[in-house]
Amino acid sequence: MTRLYLPMPGNETIARALALSAGAELGAIETRRFPDGEAYVRLLSAVEGREVEIVCTLARPDEQFLSLIFAAETAREMGAARVNLIAPYLAYMRQDKRFKDGEAISSMHFARLLSRSFDGLITIDPHLHRRRDLGEIFTIATRVEHAAPLLADWIKDNVSDPLVVGPDAESEQWVAAVAGRAGAPHIVSNKTRRGDRDVSIDLPDLSALRARRAVLVDDIVSSGRTMIETARKLSAAGMAKPVCVAVHALFADQSYAELLSLCERVVSTDTVPHASNAISVAALLAPA
Ligand code: R5P
Repeated sequence: MTRLYLPMPGNETIARALALSAGAELGAIETRRFPDGEAYVRLLSAVEGREVEIVCTLARPDEQFLSLIFAAETAREMGAARVNLIAPYLAYMRQDKRFKDGEAISSMHFARLLSRSFDGLITIDPHLHRRRDLGEIFTIATRVEHAAPLLADWIKDNVSDPLVVGPDAESEQWVAAVAGRAGAPHIVSNKTRRGDRDVSIDLPDLSALRARRAVLVDDIVSSGRTMIETARKLSAAGMAKPVCVAVHALFADQSYAELLSLCERVVSTDTVPHASNAISVAALLAPA
């Protein structure tokens, strides 16, 4: 069965890299808006009998979700043998619990919607907090890849005497793995989140570590408050400006500029196209 990579708009670079490494064809999807704002989708490549990999990172998912579903359903109708989703960033995974009566558990609903239109999903570091496995919410085959080794290697190659700093106690195991591979010590912050943009951070005693360069690591930067508040606390503790390394660079509002002003450098993987991208994840998404 031949494989065809179809990028949704904005995903062409990573789709091209994947097609190239798999020796597969890179196809195209035409999308536009009708004058009333509704989505128009047309597959420009033949899909019949083929394994179709639709590439669509899901940052700002609401803007693109219907077009993505229309593309997948059209591929099925036109005879694709399988239609998979390669979503380097998988949205909506953080609301995984009804914190207040009546709230939508959006991670579960989103997973159900994707499971209806795709046969398989490949993603990187989905934010699974209270779930152990995507199989708990998806009914299709899922494959999860991890960017931690790429982050660790970047730190090893680019930062002298690093001190890896994780965002909270829950991240300890992940942070320890990154630090271990980078050959660096690590600490984690004590984080209290009171709202979407209301985060406070406490750091452990840093007196024995002041000569090191703090490297803040996180799987996701969303409002940016976690990294911004941590950078402020490090500065108050007399540390040099930190380096920040994240997997998924969402950076809402002006958070990127604010974080940059407090840091030596801010880098991310290219799961979400962003000015801070410095680490390619394409190799992780190649066919198994
Ligand atoms: C929390 O569990 C995550 O690891 C991140 O620290 C968090 O999602 C970052 O969010 P924000 O950028 O909005 O502080």
